[in-house]
Amino acid sequence: AAIEKGGYDHFMLKEIHEQPSTIYDCLRGRLDAEKGTITMKGIQDNIQALITAPRYIIIACGTSWHAALVAEYVIEELCRIPVEVEYASEFRYRNPIINKGDVIIAISQSGETADTLVAIEKAKEQGAFIFGIVNVVGSSISRASHAGAYTHAGPEIGVASTKAFTAQLAVLLMIALKIAKEKGTIDNTKYSRLLVEMHELPEKVEAILKNASQLKLIAEKYKHSVNALYLGRGYNFPIALEGALKLKEISYIHAEGYPAAEMKHGPIALVDDQLPVIFVATKDEYHAKIVSNIQEIKARKGKVIAIITEGDEIIPSMADDIFMVPPADEIVAPVLSVIPLQLLSYYVGVAKGCDVDKPRNLAKSVTVE
Ligand code: G6P
Repeated sequence: AAIEKGGYDHFMLKEIHEQPSTIYDCLRGRLDAEKGTITMKGIQDNIQALITAPRYIIIACGTSWHAALVAEYVIEELCRIPVEVEYASEFRYRNPIINKGDVIIAISQSGETADTLVAIEKAKEQGAFIFGIVNVVGSSISRASHAGAYTHAGPEIGVASTKAFTAQLAVLLMIALKIAKEKGTIDNTKYSRLLVEMHELPEKVEAILKNASQLKLIAEKYKHSVNALYLGRGYNFPIALEGALKLKEISYIHAEGYPAAEMKHGPIALVDDQLPVIFVATKDEYHAKIVSNIQEIKARKGKVIAIITEGDEIIPSMADDIFMVPPADEIVAPVLSVIPLQLLSYYVGVAKGCDVDKPRNLAKSVTVE
């Protein structure tokens, strides 16, 4: 087992550290930043259906559902196509409205999640076109889809999804960029710049992982917390949700993710001098807004842990703890900002003596309803 873990203590840590190469594998043969091309057969073969679709509906569960939320923001921004994100378990029982031309995108690491599979079958009965984004080659969801793209992250053993999530984000970003380019909703300069940004992701992830020990220290400080709040805005809002999910899965600390501005409608009531509030606050168009959200937490004596962009001159003086990630365009930033949150939950889980690879009550793939 030690050999299988490649020298790491747990599969989860190994898989977190594999992300520079899994993201690279996901982009390889598809994204060519020099030529300015994205090659994805499943997209090319169905390009008319994809660019004329009145709407996309993305169905998924768990961590894959968080990837779907990032995709909603990115696709709407770049492709100007309305996107709805649905929990597969809700969608399947809701007698969902699917109009002519609507495209269903199903996201699943395992390709075996029962709720997602049944949701696909329901949508197919209504004549929908299904595009699957799956990690496991030949899995049920890949076979049930009309077309798709594999995430190529390799087998994921840790129950809590890490490398499969960043690979899902990479695939979804490439899809959004390709469709935007074909549809003409992105200008050439922005398109070329974002391709370069994508190409640079593996080395930026590598740079983040080099500082993993900083997160171990932060984890030691907060491991006895009973609750934790994760806040983010825009493209980083789904990353706040994912950070909270990871912490509760791995360490059993109750955690909630919220859009930072929404906290005043509830979660702010929880803030006291014991509550760690993790801000996903990388440099983007919302930066000034999230700075004032941090002030609101500090005014109530909450402990602020902030994931920020290198060179941020404002947040370090306000936060109790910071972790810096390399600068990146806000559209690709979620791929980077999630990495420290994966590591933080890993180190908290280990510090608490939890079984991080197999948390109680959870399954790697949920093949029953
Ligand atoms: C389970 C796993 C999660 C995963 C979810 C969806 O709950 O523990 O890590 O995100 O299923 O799985 P899928 O394979 O469909 O992405």
